[in-house]
Amino acid sequence: MGKNVFDKSFKREEILKRLREYASDDAEPYSGRLFTISYEAGVKELKEIAYEALKLFLDKNMLDFTEFPSVIRMEKDVIDIAISLMNGDEEVAGTYTFGGTESVFLAVKAARDKFIVDRGFITIPEIVMPVTAHPCYDKAAEYMGLRVKRVRINNETYQADPEEINEAVTENTALIVGSAPNWPFGTIDPIKDLAEIAREKNIWLHVDACVGGFVLPFMRRIGEDIPDFDFSIDGVSSISLDPHKYAYSSLGASIVLFRRKFYKMFSQFSNLKWPGYPIVNPAILSSRSEGPLAATWAVLHFLGEEGYVNLARKIVDARNKILDGLRELGYIVLGKPSVILAFTSNKINLFRLCDEMARRGWLFLAQRGISEMSIPPSVHLTITPIHEKVVDGMLRDLRESTSILLNLPSTEVESIIESLGLIMSLIAPKEIDIPSLSKMLKEMEKYMNIYGPKILEAFGLDKGLPKEMALINQVLNSLPPEIAELLVNYIVIELFSKGV
Ligand SMILES: Cc1ncc(COP(=O)(O)O)c(C=O)c1O
Repeated sequence: MGKNVFDKSFKREEILKRLREYASDDAEPYSGRLFTISYEAGVKELKEIAYEALKLFLDKNMLDFTEFPSVIRMEKDVIDIAISLMNGDEEVAGTYTFGGTESVFLAVKAARDKFIVDRGFITIPEIVMPVTAHPCYDKAAEYMGLRVKRVRINNETYQADPEEINEAVTENTALIVGSAPNWPFGTIDPIKDLAEIAREKNIWLHVDACVGGFVLPFMRRIGEDIPDFDFSIDGVSSISLDPHKYAYSSLGASIVLFRRKFYKMFSQFSNLKWPGYPIVNPAILSSRSEGPLAATWAVLHFLGEEGYVNLARKIVDARNKILDGLRELGYIVLGKPSVILAFTSNKINLFRLCDEMARRGWLFLAQRGISEMSIPPSVHLTITPIHEKVVDGMLRDLRESTSILLNLPSTEVESIIESLGLIMSLIAPKEIDIPSLSKMLKEMEKYMNIYGPKILEAFGLDKGLPKEMALINQVLNSLPPEIAELLVNYIVIELFSKGV
């Protein structure tokens, strides 16, 4: 039996003290120093109203919207706003979910079920998408029995390449995906061209506007050149957009919109086969707090269109300053960025750059790239309104970190890892087949018992979370993805069972 960790109770003060201790080395979302995962407007009142709304509805359960009709009222308002932003008409229907991944799952389920109904034959349905699409599609495919084909992008624009997509489509294709924008580079895929393929071949097209849905329309209003990506394009079947990203709502907020109410039917789940209450779940989770929905309602109505336009201006100003700074320092910006940008360098080890910046308190995100597709490793920055205040200081530290790294020879370990990566890329199969993968999985337990602790020690993970990530990133980068995936799964299980 495991340890009994709640054999005594604590007073309120003690509980709060301990929780604060647990959070003592967390990153601080309101600092403006996070350029990844955090979407901060930097507006104090906005936070306060969101917290009030969260508190008011935290204990109400969205599962039973007949018991809590406020669910239907708030959800309808929020979905109506999303529909109007995405230029939908009265036929469009939507669902509020707890995150982009959940919205994508619903779109994939609807596309798969419609595909099966339309085609009437049994096969493994496929998702065709540019390699830049978010892994939540692979996750949905893994959970729901589809196959994913990730195809090359245009190496100059870092956008989806419609020809590559077209070539990958077969009679088994249930769904094509385009992003507005994608996460790795912040470039917007040519949705019009993808829609043409989808229309011609009668295939579902999902537009992933999880990142862009609540910001691109406002950027367009301040004169940014944003191509069409929404329901104004014939052929777009569904769109996901996340209030917990650029609408600055509390976490647990996403929306999926379907071109027709009938499409939404395929995404829902109902069950009247058991002796209990009738189940109708519009989303994947069943019981869920109404708090995040209320916070979303509050934040959208607090800012209004004008508020979002003003925040979009701050993002664009910060982004343009960062772009100038990066080019001045000799970095290469990949494609035409929007609210996210990525840069690379052939002179500097980018993983070490992220560590240098982390030492100065800035969180950048290192990206592995894909050498076989000529996509270089890069650094990703998600830019939000709060960055406008801190951008000058960040660029000062970037200048300093860059000059340190430019004058530093690469270490012996780096050269070894680089050679290892090269050898691996030459000898590892491009795709690992199912028998080899299952052999690997079967042997995994045995080998991890022997080598696991040594690996954790080598990465410094036996003592908790490492302060520097460059070595880990480089090793992961040098392994074939399937092996790196097994390794990170193992590491995460160990971290959560040992604690940090
Ligand atoms: C383009 C895109 N789609 C989907 C997702 C998944 O969103 P979530 O993390 O809310 O599940 C993300 C997350 O960053 C994303 O960038």
